[in-house]
Amino acid sequence: KNAFSSLMKPIKEFKRKPGFKITVVGAGQVGLACCAFLLQRRLAKELVIMDIQYERAQAEARDFNHAAVFLTDPKITACGDGVNTKDSDVVIVTAGVRPGKKSRLEVMHDTIKIFKELVPKLVSFSPNAIYLVVSNPADVMTHAFQKIGKIPKHRCFSTGCHLDTARFRYFIAQRLKVPTTAVKGFVIGEHGDSAVPVWSGVQVAGACLKDIVKNPGCGPDPEKWAEINKEVTCGGSSVSSVKGYTNWAVALTAVDVVAAIAGPYGRIMSIGTDMKGIHDIEENVVLSMPCMVTPSGISHIFEIPLSHGEFEMLHKSAKILFKAQCELGL
Ligand code: 2OP
Repeated sequence: KNAFSSLMKPIKEFKRKPGFKITVVGAGQVGLACCAFLLQRRLAKELVIMDIQYERAQAEARDFNHAAVFLTDPKITACGDGVNTKDSDVVIVTAGVRPGKKSRLEVMHDTIKIFKELVPKLVSFSPNAIYLVVSNPADVMTHAFQKIGKIPKHRCFSTGCHLDTARFRYFIAQRLKVPTTAVKGFVIGEHGDSAVPVWSGVQVAGACLKDIVKNPGCGPDPEKWAEINKEVTCGGSSVSSVKGYTNWAVALTAVDVVAAIAGPYGRIMSIGTDMKGIHDIEENVVLSMPCMVTPSGISHIFEIPLSHGEFEMLHKSAKILFKAQCELGL
């Protein structure tokens, strides 16, 4: 109660409608970038910043709240133990260990220690949320989250190769001097060294690249398109080797996935979930394929046509990831 309250004549109690509630787990460089872009895009009506360092999470929430006037008053809170995350619609998981100079798979045994404690806690508060795993190695950690949290594959997936696909489209667009949006195509498989750029499906301005450029990205490749394969798989390390981590592209990728979840119609993007049965994959292994992302999670997986070489590379990627999954011993 304050002096101003006497001017406010109550008519009907105002109960704030619960908005689209998003939890970001991990107040590190990736998690905070996700928070900033979620708020800027008005995707989070309620945002919970969860970190084991509760004071740190509180300070970040306070900092964002000071800009509420620019963000149409979202409800932003901090959390340490998970209680505030209750009934989240989407949980973005960025908690984990930075690959830095290591490969993403090499940090798996460190990140899994965090997940073994974190996942049961998150799921107990939000059993029906959609879980978006960013923590590296994203594919293997998604498998771990599905197993530990007993979350079905349509509601627990990784940003996966949506980021590799973005890099793939960017490097092709740069080479052709066209807008990145003019380049259509996908990277599938591991979000990592064995990622599979699907050159056979690349279209630019409606034209199939393979009809114009002989064997782009594979075989005798006089115009050296295969250099782009390396630029894609080394995209992350080319940045993290200098600044110690990547955060902007992966956060924008995660927020793009959330925008598809929040959107009315869904969108198709290359994200990681259990792909058993797709392209003759026999194991329960998490890797990326084009999926329809909708407000209820993944509604379809698109078993896109692959060249013989791409099919072989996909199975190589699946073997690498399945081996890593088995090493977790879940
Ligand atoms: C990347 O490729 C962090 O794995 C993420 O940037």
